[in-house]
Amino acid sequence: MLHWSVIFVLGFFIASIQCSDNDKNYLFGLTFYVAKTSFEYIRIDSTGKEVPTNHSDLILMVATKNGKIVGSAQSYCRHVNPPLEQIILLQGTSVYYPVEEGEIHFGKGFNISQSCAPITYGCITLVHNYCSISVKGLKADKHTKLAILSKSTQKPAPGSILIAKYLNNQGRYNTEEIVNVTVKNFSECEKQFDPENVYLVDEEEQICTERIAPKLGDDPIALPSALLFQVKNKKVYLIGIESKAEGELSLSTFAPYHCGKFDNQCSP
Ligand SMILES: *[C@@H]1O[C@H](CO)[C@@H](O)[C@H](O)[C@H]1NC(C)=O
Ligand SMILES: *[C@@H]1O[C@H](CO)[C@@H](O)[C@H](O)[C@H]1NC(C)=O
Ligand SMILES: *[C@@H]1O[C@H](CO)[C@@H](O)[C@H](O)[C@H]1NC(C)=O
Ligand SMILES: *[C@@H]1O[C@H](CO)[C@@H](O)[C@H](O)[C@H]1NC(C)=O
Repeated sequence: MLHWSVIFVLGFFIASIQCSDNDKNYLFGLTFYVAKTSFEYIRIDSTGKEVPTNHSDLILMVATKNGKIVGSAQSYCRHVNPPLEQIILLQGTSVYYPVEEGEIHFGKGFNISQSCAPITYGCITLVHNYCSISVKGLKADKHTKLAILSKSTQKPAPGSILIAKYLNNQGRYNTEEIVNVTVKNFSECEKQFDPENVYLVDEEEQICTERIAPKLGDDPIALPSALLFQVKNKKVYLIGIESKAEGELSLSTFAPYHCGKFDNQCSP
């Protein structure tokens, strides 16, 4: 039996800007943001009792040429998996702090009081795991490199190599990791994530890849929400946002799909 309990929790949504300029890899030149989320959810303990549990983690987002930062809808809402099915909305202020040379500048933080994804769009299934927030003055310059999010980007074919970046916030310190992942035949993800067609898993809207961060384990609460990129002609394209990870596979939202359907400010 499927239990749904919808919990509205005041979430603290704090983000910070990260800038790095290592030219070894195109991704290091991009401008990343970190959204910090805190929320309460219900865990089932070994005796079957429902235990309210607090959780806090960081979600990686990237600055794009359409003047927005884009990342997982899990920075706005969280789908917590069985034994209890829960949708947790994180409501509250969003504060962004610039990070310069690894230091968070709390004095330079700014708020954005705007939700990044409508609740009907992504919170339930995370098929549409897409959150975008406009940031004033987000323009490429000497210090700010922006990823391209283009609605005409084709879905990468099985066998293509994508570059994934994620935060490993399992330990005391957060480390940024970059890995290559191979695109898998979509039918593998259908078998893994939707064997009985209970959830919506849609080939047009999602990308199936080899597992991005196997060492992070399968805990859905701690899902790293990696960002997937493709480098073409020395330009970096945002391709996907990881939404599910299990065993050998990761399932990601195909970000360019949303430019046509949801976000009207993407590159052509
Ligand atoms: C979770 O955090 C809230 C807000 O800080 C607090 O009121 C509540 O008692 C905490 N719950 C648990 C189970 O620690
Ligand atoms: C953000 O908004 C909250 C609540 O309105 C306020 O307490 C906080 O000081 C603001 N932070 C910044 C950096 O403006
Ligand atoms: C990742 O893939 C790129 C090609 O897209 C290749 O140049 C690079 O060597 C690969 N890196 C690793 C660690 O396999
Ligand atoms: C992907 O899997 C489907 C179904 O198993 C198969 O028909 C198709 O040929 C496969 N495609 C590739 C590129 O391997």
